[in-house]
Amino acid sequence: MIRTVKREDLKSIYLIERLSFERPYPSSYLETLAYLSPETFLVVSLNGCIVGYSASVLRGLEGHVISIAVHPNYRGIGIGKKLLIENIKRLKDLGAKRVILEVKVDNIQALKLYQKLGFKIVKTLKNYYWDGADAYRMTLNVDSST
Ligand SMILES: CC(C)(COP(=O)(O)OP(=O)(O)OC[C@H]1O[C@@H](n2cnc3c(N)ncnc32)[C@H](O)[C@@H]1OP(=O)(O)O)[C@@H](O)C(=O)NCCC(=O)NCCS
Repeated sequence: MIRTVKREDLKSIYLIERLSFERPYPSSYLETLAYLSPETFLVVSLNGCIVGYSASVLRGLEGHVISIAVHPNYRGIGIGKKLLIENIKRLKDLGAKRVILEVKVDNIQALKLYQKLGFKIVKTLKNYYWDGADAYRMTLNVDSST
């Protein structure tokens, strides 16, 4: 089941964040996102366990996916795709005309997922990450499709 975040989900979300990224976002940042943009902060709950989340914000006409991650034990079974599709839909329902995100250039799984959903690379952001790695900025137009 995909639903919006609740306060009590944050511990599980932070665990997934730590298991998914070498340099995770601080829990306080995730809490702030959940507090400020709960409608576009989604979780996947399986038998009461949180197994994935995606956090996004809407700024004007632009939705920005800040983070998406699925618990390592639950990857590759379609959860990330469902989550992102729902997140895009919610951003669109709130008025987004396009959705943007950044992804590390060597993050093949994520890149494939985004490309599959129609995101296009529009820019390379040099030294975007803490370790000096580059990112692609990707954009999806949601004006009429999706
Ligand atoms: C990226 C991530 C969220 C994908 O979630 P997921 O639930 O595993 O993805 P899905 O099972 O929904 O797969 C969706 C698509 O992603 C791609 N994909 C997923 N796993 C892949 C893999 N191991 N290799 C190549 N492509 C893969 C495929 O295109 C797949 O579509 P398909 O199954 O129809 O071919 C997940 O791998 C993750 O949490 N990674 C760590 C955190 C991260 O890097 N987040 C993105 C930051 S920008």
